[in-house]
Amino acid sequence: MPGSPAARLSRLVDGYLVTQLLYVAVAIGVPEALARGPRTAADLAAELDVVPGVLHRVLRGLAAEQVLDERDDGRFALTDTGELLRAGVPGSLRGAVTARGEVYYDAAAGLLQAVREGGTPLELVHGRPFFEHLSAVPERLATFRASMADRSAREAGAVVAAYDTARFASIVDVGGGSGTLLRAVRERAPGADVVLFDLPGVVAGSDLPAVGGDFFTQVPGGADAYLLSRVLHDWDDDDALRILRTCRAALRPDSVLLVVEAVVPPRAADDPDAVRMDLHMLVLLHGRERSVAEYAALLERAGLRLTADVPTGAGVHVLEARPG
Ligand SMILES: C[S@@+](CC[C@H](N)C(=O)[O-])C[C@H]1O[C@@H](n2cnc3c(N)ncnc32)[C@H](O)[C@@H]1O
Repeated sequence: MPGSPAARLSRLVDGYLVTQLLYVAVAIGVPEALARGPRTAADLAAELDVVPGVLHRVLRGLAAEQVLDERDDGRFALTDTGELLRAGVPGSLRGAVTARGEVYYDAAAGLLQAVREGGTPLELVHGRPFFEHLSAVPERLATFRASMADRSAREAGAVVAAYDTARFASIVDVGGGSGTLLRAVRERAPGADVVLFDLPGVVAGSDLPAVGGDFFTQVPGGADAYLLSRVLHDWDDDDALRILRTCRAALRPDSVLLVVEAVVPPRAADDPDAVRMDLHMLVLLHGRERSVAEYAALLERAGLRLTADVPTGAGVHVLEARPG
């Protein structure tokens, strides 16, 4: 019976299929093809050069999840949900879909061993850490970067709308990656002196003023504000503390550190997205999502005090900290 405990559990346990159906659709170009108009499976298979019978069943699986609309004449079309599989549309989740299908999916198979013996599932499955695993295959690294860029794009506008960064004359984005958040900050304050700080290979060729380095060693000193967006969640408490201490050493007494992160709620059901993000960290890395109290405790150990907690409505909070 729909809505029964058995129906709900059956759907949950088949989640493995949905991850792959979405991934396959993106990998072979279904969203872009359907964006040009509804198609039958046979037409689409010819256009995409794939096996018609298999494609039809994949499309039907996606229609069963309301990602596609199956018309009476047999043609399939993108629903509003399916539209978000397209590249470059506002709110696109294409990068996330590819990263899950290509990288996270295999890694999750290591969870049973990790819960019994400890360790990181991805490392148990692939025999090397996340970034080495990504770097071994350029397309995999590109996939992950695209996923991060999609997520940054969704979050950056919400962060600058929720927290007024325009009052700072100088800002360093520590571990700023492709600079999406820093660009949003600069749009709000075009005269601000901004610096993108990340590993040398990451900042090379950036259109933003950039400094390459290692945030465990030193970050550029003396700015009004420092951003640490989605950085601390990659690391365990010891490493997160080392990063915070390096930032603390760069801060003036009146500087501000802005930690942008998902915040784990007191009860999982209050924010399932944050809880799932914590599980991605568990599966892939040595990282974790933390509660506000856990961030406050880490900040204090680094000689910083939490002075504001600003939810953005986009899955992340801005945690403002100051020396003291
Ligand atoms: C999860 S990404 C976050 C990127 C960006 N801040 C955002 O909000 O999307 C973490 C960033 O930390 C950078 N990173 C990792 N190790 C680093 C190190 N030792 N020094 C500086 N940056 C580092 C990575 O290159 C990556 O850009």
